[in-house]
Amino acid sequence: MFEIKNHNLYMDGVSTVELANQFGTPLYVYSEDKILANLKEIKNAFLSKYENSHAAFACKAFCTKYICRLLDQEGFWLDVVSGGELYTAMSVNFPANRIEFNGNNKSIEEIKLALNYGVNRFVVDSVSEFFTLEQICKQMGRSANILFRITPNVSANTHDYISTGKKDSKFGIPLNEMILFPLIEKAIHSEVLNFLGFHFHVGSQLHETQTHLSALEVILELMLTTKMKFNHTIEDFNFGGGFGVKYTEADQPLGISDFVDPIMARLTEFCEANNIDRPHVSMEPGRFIVGEAGIQLYSIGTIKEIPEIKTYLSVDGGMTDNIRPGLYGARYTALLANKADLNATEVVDISGKCCESTDILIKSLQLPPAEAGDILAVFSTGAYGYSMANNYNKLPIPPVVVISEGEPKLIVRGQTYEEMISREL
Ligand code: LLP
Repeated sequence: MFEIKNHNLYMDGVSTVELANQFGTPLYVYSEDKILANLKEIKNAFLSKYENSHAAFACKAFCTKYICRLLDQEGFWLDVVSGGELYTAMSVNFPANRIEFNGNNKSIEEIKLALNYGVNRFVVDSVSEFFTLEQICKQMGRSANILFRITPNVSANTHDYISTGKKDSKFGIPLNEMILFPLIEKAIHSEVLNFLGFHFHVGSQLHETQTHLSALEVILELMLTTKMKFNHTIEDFNFGGGFGVKYTEADQPLGISDFVDPIMARLTEFCEANNIDRPHVSMEPGRFIVGEAGIQLYSIGTIKEIPEIKTYLSVDGGMTDNIRPGLYGARYTALLANKADLNATEVVDISGKCCESTDILIKSLQLPPAEAGDILAVFSTGAYGYSMANNYNKLPIPPVVVISEGEPKLIVRGQTYEEMISREL
């Protein structure tokens, strides 16, 4: 994906320095080949290997018309969590029968939008959502497939802010017999809701399988209880996303098969031992599909040396286009795209331009001596960068370019000042 020619960093055969000149900075750049390679890994390690399965892209990681179109072409499903994400999918006619609707507080309007569009399934996150959905379906004369998102009471080895399966989590239906079993019984007998099965999502940026496997045990137990207590067979099971990617040398990500094979082996073994049909299985990765496929380009501006303390290189973006370092202490690596093969003899902090002390993109980065105007390329920024971008300090959201078949294509125009204030009355 990357090579260095004439001191410059190239991505899929295109000079990133020329991209910065052509489209300006800050700039998000994606490699379509890398996204396709990631999809291929999911196809090989999961979809082709295990029949009766599907994979949905958790589109929150990079929700754009472009990615919806690409995933449609590749036969993937989409996981949406809001009316806005659904609307983005609808705007490119993403097939409704390959959309699942997640989220812990779906509004009545969002539910109606999804029912009207005909989304394949709702992942019901609470008891009250079940009753609301049932009531709306009755009013509209519709039916819906549902899964219950279960809080499996497992703690993931990741940043606390992105660990989502713990007992006190805001996500999912608590693992409590008094709550869960009456709900399952109601779902089995609902006239308008078709109860398919269970879902969990335990956390994000995971580098080990244990959390998924612990949560799986909870689901297996529930499958068996549902069979014994209600004589009902679970048809569907979704084990979420969370598959980690490489940001820095400290990350040693697993492959998709490292997650999938143990899950499928245990599921199959359990179903055989208990004489239950193995349910349809699905996953919903976000970061894995786009994370390493994206980079961000910035121009270096102010260089500030604090003698004997540190040197700040300031860039023309920051926590507005990548909030992850400020929010989770996320680590990244970077190089000077126009001095890509020079010796990294300096240690600097990369500062964003926002009025926040926490707006530091990278701490203690080794770089060659830098000057104003140099281009900084930050790696593995494809997930949750653009999608979490904001207008703090009234900084416009940068454009997005995808390199497709060796050519850069603008897929999102940069925001203008005028657009930023256009909704203000
Ligand atoms: N499914 C559900 C229900 C989710 O809540 C999420 C992510 C995913 C799938 C996809 O997870 P992934 O494969 O991308 O790890 N903004 C944070 C990540 C928040 C993830 C929220 N849910 C970050 O930048 O690290």
